[in-house]
Amino acid sequence: MTTPAPIPIAVPDLRGNEAAYLARCVEDNWVSSAGPFVSEMERRIAEISGAAHGVATINGTAGLHLALLAAGIGPGDRVLVPDWTFGASANAVFHAGAEPFFADITRESWTLDPDVTERLLQHSENRIRAVIAVHALGHPAKLEALSAACRDAGVVLIEDAAGALGACYCGRPVGGFGDFAVFSFNGNKTVTAGGGGMVVTGDSQAAERMRRLSAQARLAPAYSHDEIAFNYRMTNLNAAVGLAQLERLNEMLAAKRALAAEYDQALAGRADLTPMPRQDWAESSNWLYAVLCPATAEASALVAHLAVRAIDSSIFWLSLSEQAPYANCPRQLSGVSRDISGRVVVLPSSSSLSSGDQARVVAALFEWRGSTPTGGAA
Ligand SMILES: Cc1ncc(COP(=O)(O)O)c(C=O)c1O
Repeated sequence: MTTPAPIPIAVPDLRGNEAAYLARCVEDNWVSSAGPFVSEMERRIAEISGAAHGVATINGTAGLHLALLAAGIGPGDRVLVPDWTFGASANAVFHAGAEPFFADITRESWTLDPDVTERLLQHSENRIRAVIAVHALGHPAKLEALSAACRDAGVVLIEDAAGALGACYCGRPVGGFGDFAVFSFNGNKTVTAGGGGMVVTGDSQAAERMRRLSAQARLAPAYSHDEIAFNYRMTNLNAAVGLAQLERLNEMLAAKRALAAEYDQALAGRADLTPMPRQDWAESSNWLYAVLCPATAEASALVAHLAVRAIDSSIFWLSLSEQAPYANCPRQLSGVSRDISGRVVVLPSSSSLSSGDQARVVAALFEWRGSTPTGGAA
């Protein structure tokens, strides 16, 4: 029996002008951290997210770090971070010299709980000066309630929109709600630049400061510096790939939407594999499609079941407050993040996934524990 070709979770979909734009970088000799594609990428992402300014960075984590610094966050401050997110959201807080304060997510969207946030922000002794609202797996956080809570408390709102380019909250693109928002263009994102990030903001002074901080705070043209800074600037090569990708953004978002709809249909009626919740107020970017298993052991077994069929899947984020590097951080948990931690499995979600390969994944899900679907084709 021949082994079927492996199906990855999320791979770059480079079927546009990527090679042509990279060749242009070589021809024009703009390959490093300056060049026309970088500023064009900044303009395009700002435009897509409805923000006035974009600042391109080498990755999303660096973008979060710069946003925190531009917000004036530093030692002695705390930043509210959902307990169920990628480590980068909390690591950036440490990079800024501050401390994450972990709060729980809601069962309805797996994003930061606005009620818990509001309560925590009302108490100044919590020392929370910023909130990082993560749009989990591309599904927007409840932005209206979170921005109202932050506004009332005089606290900065940063959207961690790493995987959420193209997502909308009540019809408005994510990225334009917070004081800052950060996108990632890592290789596993819908739009990749090979690696890269973008901070968007409506604050021109903050944008200017982040741009300076990303380039060693060097006062051109002389080698004088006005603060200690970083080498965080995106390269023209990365921006070339990113811009080519953006030309196909709508096509790739539509492909992800169709994949999600197909999985939804295949899983309808299954109690053992529950699709990630989606809310009416959110239009997810469908970055990654995830299912919730009844227990952590079942999640591991599902990953193994798919692996023997050459299908990649992964147990996704684990509660951060439970892990050694974050063990001493303050937290306010109602139990949702701990409850889903280790039970969420991400399925193949590439925008280039063929219908034949998705059918293979669906067939493998049908075979899982012999469950039979009550909806869709059996
Ligand atoms: C929620 C979240 N925040 C931040 C990041 C960090 O982005 P990057 O890998 O570009 O540094 C990621 C990356 O996947 C992420 O998922």
